Amino acid sequence: MIQKNDIPIDSIVVNEAINRLNIKDFGRATIREVVAISGEVEKKSGVEFIHMEMGVPGLPPAKIGVEAEIRALQHGIASIYPVIDGLPELKNEASRFVKAFIDLDISPECCVPVAGSMQGTYTSFLVAGQCNPERDTILFIDPGFPVQKQQILVMGCKYESFDVYEYRGEKLKEKLESYLQKGTIAAVIYSNPNNPAWFCLKEEELKIIGDLATKYDTIILEDLAYFAMDFRKNLGMSFQAPFQSSVGKYTDNYLLLISGSKVFSYAGQRIGVVAMSDKLYHRKYEGLAARYGGGTFGSVFIHRVLYALSSGTSHSAQYALAAMFKAASDGTFHFIGDVMEYGKRAHKLKEIFLRHGFEIVYDKDMDEPIADGFYFTVRYPGMTGAELMQALIPYGVSAISLLTTGSLQEGLRACVSFIKDHQYEQLEYRLKKFKEQYPVK
Ligand SMILES: Cc1ncc(COP(=O)(O)O)c(C=O)c1O
Repeated sequence: MIQKNDIPIDSIVVNEAINRLNIKDFGRATIREVVAISGEVEKKSGVEFIHMEMGVPGLPPAKIGVEAEIRALQHGIASIYPVIDGLPELKNEASRFVKAFIDLDISPECCVPVAGSMQGTYTSFLVAGQCNPERDTILFIDPGFPVQKQQILVMGCKYESFDVYEYRGEKLKEKLESYLQKGTIAAVIYSNPNNPAWFCLKEEELKIIGDLATKYDTIILEDLAYFAMDFRKNLGMSFQAPFQSSVGKYTDNYLLLISGSKVFSYAGQRIGVVAMSDKLYHRKYEGLAARYGGGTFGSVFIHRVLYALSSGTSHSAQYALAAMFKAASDGTFHFIGDVMEYGKRAHKLKEIFLRHGFEIVYDKDMDEPIADGFYFTVRYPGMTGAELMQALIPYGVSAISLLTTGSLQEGLRACVSFIKDHQYEQLEYRLKKFKEQYPVK
């Protein structure tokens, strides 16, 4: 159903919704605020929105997980505290999964379940920031996931960041080194594939990061929330190349954040795994000894910090993740097949945006066009990201400004996960009208 006559939506309805939330700088509106505005405009105007603001999985959860979880609950595990280190079965399967799809050797001991990657990053920031008194800052290779900066704010820690847009390839070395040289960086974080821009750092860039991490003794937090979702390659074959790229090939100072949320559509159960290198797990740090009276990075991570935060991770969700990892490694569960749907959606949506004068902001991995995936970034000539975000609302299209992601580029992040089949036609019509209203000069 295309509500032709209702587009653009009456500006009174749009302005009322924006004013009601009392947002001073619309370009800095959070995802939740944009959702609130688009939701209200949708309700008042009756026009269905094309929601591209939230990064929520839009697919059913992996059945293998759900069934394993139900079985575990029926066996009564809900009444028992999970072992704080993690269910042995999950630890074994996580280690096997990492070998099968990244080709890295990490012992089961060093694979730790967390209540979603969010808890994994929170714990990692905290422990990394306590290792050495002089290293008190987290470095973000941006653009990034805004909530992680919120975590730093909650903790009262420090962070620095730079937009990698101008520093791909060899240029990354000098830029990254300029931060690490200062001796204050406790850890560096980036996501790969990247939220919001969906670029993927190349092997040579990961090698630069890994080499510098070793040289300056800094910990790398590699956020693999979109594990194996670079659909340009078939990364879904267990124990066979090509593998998910990882900094773990180039340094021992690393920790991987593997989320069940996107790749298994399991966000609701808040489950993921932090897999740290054996060397990092067993390493002793002066700052940790002073604060906790001993321990290693891994033992403090688990027995001090995770214990204090949530005393472990939902028991049944651990059974689910163990079963999904196992089936994926066994080659009986082709998880990439399910999530490839996102790539197909992105391909169609990008074509529509490009046809109507929009451009992709982060368009290349050096010389190669970026993959189609969960997110992409768009700009419109002559408009800032904030202006574009606001200008699209009357056309029933909502996305978030790149400003909130640490990007210095003017544009929007669009997420494909909520797109329904009938909305491509809607988008085509709405962007055509948008272009008529704002012709490209
Ligand atoms: C880059 C990135 N990291 C982490 C997360 C959160 O993952 P989880 O649901 O496992 O906490 C997300 C979710 O959108 C994300 O985009």
